[in-house]
Amino acid sequence: MARGKKSYGFAFFLLFFAVVLGAGCGGGSQNKIINQDLDMQASDFECIKNWEYIAPYYLTNKLGADNLAETLKVANSPNGGTFPPGTIIQLLPMEAMVKRIKGWSPETNDWEFFALAITGTTTTIITRGKAETRNFAKMNCFDCHSKAAPQWDFVCGQNHGCDPFPANDQFIQGLQNTDTRCP
Ligand code: HEC
Repeated sequence: MARGKKSYGFAFFLLFFAVVLGAGCGGGSQNKIINQDLDMQASDFECIKNWEYIAPYYLTNKLGADNLAETLKVANSPNGGTFPPGTIIQLLPMEAMVKRIKGWSPETNDWEFFALAITGTTTTIITRGKAETRNFAKMNCFDCHSKAAPQWDFVCGQNHGCDPFPANDQFIQGLQNTDTRCP
């Protein structure tokens, strides 16, 4: 009896390690984030509908599969998180947020803001930069987006603390449908 009890205990001991190590390694699903820079050129922008749709915005990551997986993990998390380098988010065809290499701009959490113009299949960068960047209506991106609570990494969404966007989802979808770069 004593012997039987002992091996039972040992089985639990092994199970304990399997669980702890399994959890510690993320069950093999841990993403290997590449900390590289993404210096977008006008011709690197494309039809936003080629990307993942996390309603109401589109997003992608140009630095490989693991970075994209992490981008999606953060976007889908109910608790937010920090987007990895290479992330591009667009709600509208003419505005973009791009995550640069760590340390590029601590004030904006390394986001670079873009105002874009689209003519046919051609994208032109009107302006790009850090906290000083303004949109097509001369409004400052950072002023609005920095009001998002810290765990949302400057993503406003509908209830992250930014001033509300004066447009409903239908209007936004209408603007998304004006992306003439799409096939
Ligand atoms: C007047 C405030 C305001 C300004 C100025 C502004 N935004 Fe936003 N932006 C918002 C709000 C609010 C949302 C969320 C809209 C929604 O989901 O309904 C948003 C959404 C976005 C999104 C989708 C992800 C998210 O945060 O929800 C991106 C990308 C974005 N804006 C980029 C920009 C860029 C780039 C600029 C400047 C060129 C800019 N915005 C200027 C308020 C603003």
